[in-house]
Amino acid sequence: MRILGIETSCDETGAAVVEDGQHITGQALASSVDIQRQYGGVVPEQAAREQLKSILPVIDSALKQAGDSGAVDSIAVTVGPGLVGSLLIGVETAKTLAWVWNKPLIPVNHLLAHFYAAWIDSTPPAFPFIGLLISGGHTDLILMKDHGVWEYLGGTRDDAAGEAFDKTARLLGLPYPGGAALAQLARRGDSKQIVLPSPMRKSENYDFSFSGLKTAAVRLIDTLKPLKESTRANIAACLQETIVEVLVAKTVRAIETYRVPTVIVAGGVAANERLREVLRETLINHKLSVDLHIPPPGLCTDNAVMIAACAYYLNRPVPIEQVQADPSISLR
Ligand code: KG4
Ligand code: ZN
Repeated sequence: MRILGIETSCDETGAAVVEDGQHITGQALASSVDIQRQYGGVVPEQAAREQLKSILPVIDSALKQAGDSGAVDSIAVTVGPGLVGSLLIGVETAKTLAWVWNKPLIPVNHLLAHFYAAWIDSTPPAFPFIGLLISGGHTDLILMKDHGVWEYLGGTRDDAAGEAFDKTARLLGLPYPGGAALAQLARRGDSKQIVLPSPMRKSENYDFSFSGLKTAAVRLIDTLKPLKESTRANIAACLQETIVEVLVAKTVRAIETYRVPTVIVAGGVAANERLREVLRETLINHKLSVDLHIPPPGLCTDNAVMIAACAYYLNRPVPIEQVQADPSISLR
């Protein structure tokens, strides 16, 4: 079964053809990040305008790669959460194609879909699993019992993990989105030279809070200005270490509490090397023999492959006229 996935929740325009929820046969992604960079963040209307230009060429390219005149069995589209103007472009395009081609249309929750990147070219993860979703807009911890069946364990009370990376990166003069650049800078730093607060690290729940960390970084940077190159690197290292430690601590506690066989870490921040390293080490130290799935970096950040894969396993088509963009859906 071949599913065409369409993803336009934020600033990217993605299309992909995925076979049986596991194999990519066509994939295309257009990003307007160069434009966002000039503004230091995503300007919603600008993002939507760029998506309008690229949506058809991107879909065409994914279908051409898939060959066989691109015939697909179903169409899947991100309906939320995200920027409403951006979502509408994907949703309305998908509805039109489903109507013209007379194909089933499957609406997909973008957040849930992030976990399905772990099914691509991999042994299917076993249920139940602890899922940690860490992206630019979300930080959520869930217990996933079966396809589409989950219990919400906790999440951020303010900023998302990616937001903390991006905002601090900006203060350190790094280009948007700064997560990967901050991680690069952190390699040259020593996290122990700086002290930053770690809110909720020891709290007995699965919630997170990153806004205090960001405020502390702002104050510190103001106090230490002008920053020496070594201080910049130390701040980056300490911020990364603080975020990684709290994410790993709560994930490991959830694995121990629910005794799951599997853990999946997904979303843009899952591309972070230090996070991968600390999580692996902590699982070994705690003698937890869980199957750890972290998709390759290209499938951690937003893409249409995960949308098509998620739709395959959920397999819940909805009548075209009932499919609507919903910017506020969540995992809660
Ligand atoms: O999942 P994603 O592509 O978009 C959302 O759905 O938000 O995540 C983007 C986020 C950004 O905040 C970006 O800075 C962060 O992922 N990110 C990273 C790394 N690569 C991307 N954060 C830390 N380390 C990285 N290597
Ligand atoms: Zn995302």
